[in-house]
Amino acid sequence: MRDVAAAAASTDPRVLPRNDPRQYDDLAGEWWRPDGAFAMLHWLAEARAALVPPATRPGAVLVDLGCGAGLLAPHLTGKGYHHIGVDLTRSALVQAAEHGVRVVQGDATAVPLPSGCADVVSAGELLEHVPAWPRAVAEACRLLRPGGLLVLDTLNDTALARLVAVRIAERLPTVPRGIHDPRLFVDAQALVAECARHGVDLRLRGIRPQVGGLLAWLLRRARATGAAPAGRPPRIVPTRSTAVLYQGRGVRKG
Ligand SMILES: C[S@@+](CC[C@H](N)C(=O)[O-])C[C@H]1O[C@@H](n2cnc3c(N)ncnc32)[C@H](O)[C@@H]1O
Repeated sequence: MRDVAAAAASTDPRVLPRNDPRQYDDLAGEWWRPDGAFAMLHWLAEARAALVPPATRPGAVLVDLGCGAGLLAPHLTGKGYHHIGVDLTRSALVQAAEHGVRVVQGDATAVPLPSGCADVVSAGELLEHVPAWPRAVAEACRLLRPGGLLVLDTLNDTALARLVAVRIAERLPTVPRGIHDPRLFVDAQALVAECARHGVDLRLRGIRPQVGGLLAWLLRRARATGAAPAGRPPRIVPTRSTAVLYQGRGVRKG
């Protein structure tokens, strides 16, 4: 494992291929900075957690696939789940554990957890990083108990998503440059079909940052000096189109 502190202090990250998971080691110091390179993941985590109802039984388990540094954790507080996080990246898992997540290092396409162990599976901003994303979907559905809930968000496989999420967003301080490989973006209808094959009727809705809030945040961030925070973060709001960023929510058949 690369030293987390050293990676955080580095101002000269390696130039790695798009979507190379080692980028998360180089950016390890950014995860929990609310206005850092992963700022938008904080906003999305809050929106994703809003899809998760309070647990309906003692001992309920939420498996967070591709949990990163556990940004979902604060938004689950009080909902009654044991939060288990699975990720490839050890430097991220170290931080997730510090935020109360029980961590498992593993691949979302072959998760080392038993079938039916989860009341909720979350896959936030994961599938667009997994070359064999249908395999990760199969695993997410396998982990769910009958009646369990799948929540996810990802980027659509469209020209508009490639323009907005790569060409534009990577020039802004909201998305690290090179973190996405647009060839891996996830066709929304293919995702729905894949979930259906595994017993989950996935419903989609488009989401985006609230525009005024985003512009105000970008302005404040540009003006902010040193460690001064950029203030209130933009909210993630529903939008009619799923063409760029979308959430999915579905229950596994009993
Ligand atoms: C964009 S981050 C999202 C992290 C977290 N879900 C969040 O929203 O804050 C993508 C994460 O997926 C992880 N990842 C990528 N491919 C993976 C795989 N095949 N299996 C498990 N984790 C993976 C990366 O290490 C990274 O932590």
